[in-house]
Amino acid sequence: MHQNARVVFRVASSFVIIELPFDLISSFIIFIFIMTKKMLKRKQRENVEEEEKEEKPKMKRTSDEPAVKKVKWINRQRVLVFATRGINHRHRHLMEDLKMLMPHHRPECKMERSKNLRVVNEICEMKNCNKAILFEGRKKRDLYVWFANISAGPSAKFLVENIYTMGELKMTGNCLKGSRPLLSFDETFTTQVHYNLLKELLTQIFGVPNHHPKSQPFFDHVYTFSILDNRIWFRNYQILTEDGALAEIGPRFVLNPVKIFDGSFGGNTLWDNTHYISPAKYRQALTKKAANKYINRVEQKMVRQATKPESSYMLNPIDEIFKGDLMEKAMEIENKSEILDNRENVEKSVKSKVKKIRKPVITKKVKKLKSVKKSVKSKALKKKKAK
Ligand SMILES: *[C@@H]1O[C@H](CO)[C@@H](O)[C@H](O)[C@H]1NC(C)=O
Ligand SMILES: *[C@@H]1O[C@H](CO)[C@@H](O)[C@H](O)[C@H]1NC(C)=O
Repeated sequence: MHQNARVVFRVASSFVIIELPFDLISSFIIFIFIMTKKMLKRKQRENVEEEEKEEKPKMKRTSDEPAVKKVKWINRQRVLVFATRGINHRHRHLMEDLKMLMPHHRPECKMERSKNLRVVNEICEMKNCNKAILFEGRKKRDLYVWFANISAGPSAKFLVENIYTMGELKMTGNCLKGSRPLLSFDETFTTQVHYNLLKELLTQIFGVPNHHPKSQPFFDHVYTFSILDNRIWFRNYQILTEDGALAEIGPRFVLNPVKIFDGSFGGNTLWDNTHYISPAKYRQALTKKAANKYINRVEQKMVRQATKPESSYMLNPIDEIFKGDLMEKAMEIENKSEILDNRENVEKSVKSKVKKIRKPVITKKVKKLKSVKKSVKSKALKKKKAK
């Protein structure tokens, strides 16, 4: 026997009563129950997959503003921002500043330094990120940064120079956390192919996706990327007024491109910076220059000493015979002549002249003195001989 059940519908303002077999209805109910359960499950799973923390943006809004409608969030850029071990505190502060500016970033613990950076691709895939910024410190003083488009490539490696973090700058500008930036590129970016590629990469990394759940739906600051001296200079400004008044927020840094690869963290080199000098080499050159300065000085001194003439002019001692104290002069001349006597005599002519002059003028006085100071004289002579 089949039991019938009465199902009551309300159509318009009248009731319709239909009698149906009971087990048909019960099976129908069970079917609906299972379907809804399945659908719920799938929805949950989707939610988990799509965005773990798809929270509504916390916003301070006045009550008269209309509630934000949930709009479709299409651009799903997620940037993994992290560093290898060995970056110093300033570099870490710069990284934190960038994270603050990028609501679409994902944090990650510091990575052990390894030769093969391809591991990063796996980390990013696990973290569900399609872009990566990896800071790499060297010797606690140099900072390199990788910008990469995960799995498909390209990736670029930069040396980061002239770093000023937000904390250091203490600029007057300010912006809301999570608000979106305008990206402003120098027109030089369009003139060369590699700059064009970098522009695309930077746009995809730094641009905050529209309707990202952690972002604010308005623009209140602008990043400028300008090229000077073969480097990319980054600045971040607050937009004060609509006519373009700006106030700098910070941070500041300069990206000196090293290489661009076609893969992410590896692959063929697409472009190589010929102007790039590694900081270690630069420092080496500086110290060499300083050392060269010293070596030059020493060399000059040695050359001077080597080429220095032993005696200047052959002076005729008689020329100055009447200058100064006569007695002393006479003594000197005699001493000299005696030395010359003892030596192998080269200047015979000079000596004979001296003798000729000496005899008539000063002999008597000299003789007296001679007798008095004979002992001293002999000693002095001996000394001079020794020399
Ligand atoms: C990154 O890869 C995706 C494909 O996975 C591509 O659509 C996008 O243009 C790439 N980005 C850059 C900067 O080349
Ligand atoms: C010449 O020799 C005498 C000693 O013989 C000495 O006293 C005197 O200082 C010497 N004169 C000079 C200028 O060297």
